[in-house]
Amino acid sequence: MPDLPAPAPNSAEETPPSRRVHIKSYGCQMNAYDATRMADVLAPHGYAEAASAEEADLVILNTCHIREKAAEKVYSELGRLRGLKNERQAAGKPTMIAVAGCVAQAEGAEITRRAPVVDVVVGPQSYHRLPDLIDRATRERRAVDTEFPAEDKFDHLPAASAQVIGARGYSAFLTVQEGCDKFCTFCVVPYTRGAEVSRPVERIVAEAEGLARAGVREITLIGQNVNAYHGEGPDGAVWSLARLARRIAGIPGLARLRYSTSHPHDMAEDLIALHGELPAFMPYLHLPVQSGSDQVLAAMNRRHTADEYRRLIDRVRRARPDIALSSDFIVGFPGESDADFEATMRLVRDIGFASAFSFKYSPRPGTPAAEMTGQVPAAVSRDRLAALQGLLNRQQTDFNAATVGRTVDVLFEKKGRHNGQIAGKSPYLQAVQVEGPDSLIGTIVPVEITGLATFSLFGRLAGSAKEEQ
Ligand code: SAH
Ligand code: SF4
Ligand code: F3S
Repeated sequence: MPDLPAPAPNSAEETPPSRRVHIKSYGCQMNAYDATRMADVLAPHGYAEAASAEEADLVILNTCHIREKAAEKVYSELGRLRGLKNERQAAGKPTMIAVAGCVAQAEGAEITRRAPVVDVVVGPQSYHRLPDLIDRATRERRAVDTEFPAEDKFDHLPAASAQVIGARGYSAFLTVQEGCDKFCTFCVVPYTRGAEVSRPVERIVAEAEGLARAGVREITLIGQNVNAYHGEGPDGAVWSLARLARRIAGIPGLARLRYSTSHPHDMAEDLIALHGELPAFMPYLHLPVQSGSDQVLAAMNRRHTADEYRRLIDRVRRARPDIALSSDFIVGFPGESDADFEATMRLVRDIGFASAFSFKYSPRPGTPAAEMTGQVPAAVSRDRLAALQGLLNRQQTDFNAATVGRTVDVLFEKKGRHNGQIAGKSPYLQAVQVEGPDSLIGTIVPVEITGLATFSLFGRLAGSAKEEQ
């Protein structure tokens, strides 16, 4: 028998992490991505991820400021964490609480005044400085950083370790663009995330290759305004999102590409065409319209009319007839009349959405709409929202019902709700459950859709795993 190599000595790097961090993320996909990157920043400093706040030495609330309810949630959560921190400290376990994300950016040091339990406040553009801020808070009791720093945080984020990526599963977000220059009159994002910035192509490709090497099969390219992407390419030219997507689709191992969130104004022809050309480009488009009334759209500063949106959707459907459409809606925007709301319902009936998010307008401090006259009474907004959601839910059910009997490719991502089941997503982003072995998790398999639950589908395996490229 050949000599076995001597076991590697236990090096210092292999000692188990001594501290644990729990990150609770609210809001959009950008926040979900940022949460994973915060974990990457902290991992080399000895922080492993903890499943609950109770087990964590550091708790980070990654917050959202988009609507009042979202922002207020932070303070109720901080109230709960105060009790937890006191209990842990009494048991001799020092515990730190950090507030990150868009509420941190919007409210800054005010958070520590309102909630003294908070040790660190860090904005979305400075979380690469978290280790320093934690040190500073240890020395000085508290640290606040809500700058838009001159350095780009992406240049300071470590490459994600395969172990960390592994825990993220087979479908991952990748931020390619951040911030927004659109200034819709209701929206805080241009203030909390700053001006629109596109990351260079090579950095994105390197990150996507890393994800693919770690087993990720599906990447969603994300940005507040992702289709406004205009990053520097390796050839020195400015690349569009379509060109970037083509490049990323060529990375071995990646089978599926998605992108979110797009603005109708930036829906370029090359991007529309790509839906008909690139098999990896999934037939799903989230394209927020907000309202079907031209008057309201103008007051929102959305830069398109309802008919322009309809024509745009026609072009997208010509490129990819089976595309699943999704959108965001706001009801009760200042000045919205019954007729304006009816125009929104008409637009929804004309287009037919596979899924959608709809919200009651929430006045946000510092935005132009908050100062507008004609604020709509809460009861009116509530009734409009119920009517709109009723219609959108019926459309979603119809869309899902139309899949029953068809065979679609499903990327299995995890175990299902019950023993012996596995769960994944169809190309149209529908949740699908089947009876099947765990060994199929991470693969793409044709599934015959057999039935419908409230917002998901049941099916049976219709063949063996195939490589979608
Ligand atoms: N960048 C995306 C998403 C922005 S936030 C876009 O351009 O559409 C996600 C959604 O939240 C928005 O599309 C909008 O429907 C909703 N939203 C934003 N501000 C809001 C407010 N003040 N009140 C209610 N809903 C709001
Ligand atoms: Fe907000 Fe409008 Fe920018 Fe979307 S496009 S992030 S809604 S300002
Ligand atoms: Fe919320 Fe900020 Fe995203 S306000 S929706 S977390 S960009």
